[in-house]
Amino acid sequence: MSVAPTLIAEIGKHVDSEVEIAGWLYNLRSKGKIHFLQLRDGSGRLQAVAVQGECDPASFAAIGELKMEASLKVRGRVRPEERAPGGYELAVTEVAVVQNPIEDFPIAKKEHGIDFLLENRHLWLRSSLPGAILRVRHEAITSLRNFFNARGFLLVDTPILTGSIGESAGSLFEVPYFDLGTAYLAQTGQLYLEAACAAFGKVYNFGPTFRAEKSKTRRHLTEFWMLEAEAAWMDNEGNLELQEQMIGTLVQDVLSRCGPELKLLERDTAHLAKTEPPFPRLDYGEAIEILRKEGRSIEWGNDLGAEEETVLSSRYDKPLFLTNYPKKAKAFYMKENPANPETVLCADLLAPEGYGEIIGGSQREDDLEKLRARIREEKLPEDSYAWYLELRRFGSVPHSGFGLGLERTVTWLTGIHHIREASPFPRTIARLYP
Ligand code: 4AD
Ligand code: MG
Repeated sequence: MSVAPTLIAEIGKHVDSEVEIAGWLYNLRSKGKIHFLQLRDGSGRLQAVAVQGECDPASFAAIGELKMEASLKVRGRVRPEERAPGGYELAVTEVAVVQNPIEDFPIAKKEHGIDFLLENRHLWLRSSLPGAILRVRHEAITSLRNFFNARGFLLVDTPILTGSIGESAGSLFEVPYFDLGTAYLAQTGQLYLEAACAAFGKVYNFGPTFRAEKSKTRRHLTEFWMLEAEAAWMDNEGNLELQEQMIGTLVQDVLSRCGPELKLLERDTAHLAKTEPPFPRLDYGEAIEILRKEGRSIEWGNDLGAEEETVLSSRYDKPLFLTNYPKKAKAFYMKENPANPETVLCADLLAPEGYGEIIGGSQREDDLEKLRARIREEKLPEDSYAWYLELRRFGSVPHSGFGLGLERTVTWLTGIHHIREASPFPRTIARLYP
């Protein structure tokens, strides 16, 4: 068996020929002289039928002993079979067992609690629902990369070990760092992308970011992937338009490439299909008025919570831009709004159906003195921002950018309840295993 195995996904090209499938057994039903084996190989799932008398006798006997998740190589002839999932079936002639599990697989067909499944995430990945979610994640990543590559953005990988705080001091992971004291795990690559956009014009990064947030919500991870884009000469309005185009393309790509996965996940794709630019925009001040009319006691100046976001976004069936937040609710680097200096030129993008904020973005403060004043106001260590301030000394230009949270976006695209399932090995405040 030295020939490369045939992939289940390509089985349709081999009708009436003999092939070898290398994979795992995820179900076995036996009826006297017939074994029905359900196989998976990572590319797809296939039914194989072993009939006594037609299959090699030693193989037939070995199949009867198999446990779930046995690894095996199966030889047989491909035939069309309307009743089989996928439309083909393998008539088995020979089986080579690679390993028969030494005990019963812990994940069975029955319902398991979420804690048990997360504790067994290394094995749970083999099931069909996690598989479908991670395939959508893969297609989302591919779509986003293609989007920026096609528009002349340069990929610039920003550091994970950093010396300056990107977002908020309250959610930093600290790492002992030789004689230099403490390093922080990056909360964002933005500050470095701002340096890169003055070198290359349009840039993006896509990598892991870390937040030591003690939030136990369905939207928070301690490690998540962020796609960030930054462009010189792009103003706040241009930033929103870029985001609309990106999200529109992303949804189209996922709808066209992940049909079977979205079906398995029972995602309402009609709702997703409405995600076409332009997206509605709502000024923060108007949002506060709407929330007050709905009977919520919220003060102008406060950040919005998940519930408030849901009240606002449920008024629309497309993603919603919430614009021009108060300065004091947002990070130090956002550019003051000339029309109302108490606010900044920024927008959060809220996904529909209650999924909340998936993008945070803004125009950046490009005025040296205003930026320095903000750093002082926030009591940030000015020394570690010396390089960042220098960007405003040498050819400062208007520039803007944003960060999209990958797992939050995948949670929305797949219609799942909790963000942890959008990550292959989720990290939350209570989970480091597996
Ligand atoms: O809004 P945030 O904090 O923005 C930034 O970090 C900017 N520096 C990005 C930029 O302008 N380049 O985070 C961006 C996005 C959020 O909208 C959300 O989707 C996601 O990152 N995010 C989280 N996802 C999962 N778990 C968490 N704890 C998250 N915190 C933020
Ligand atoms: Mg944000």
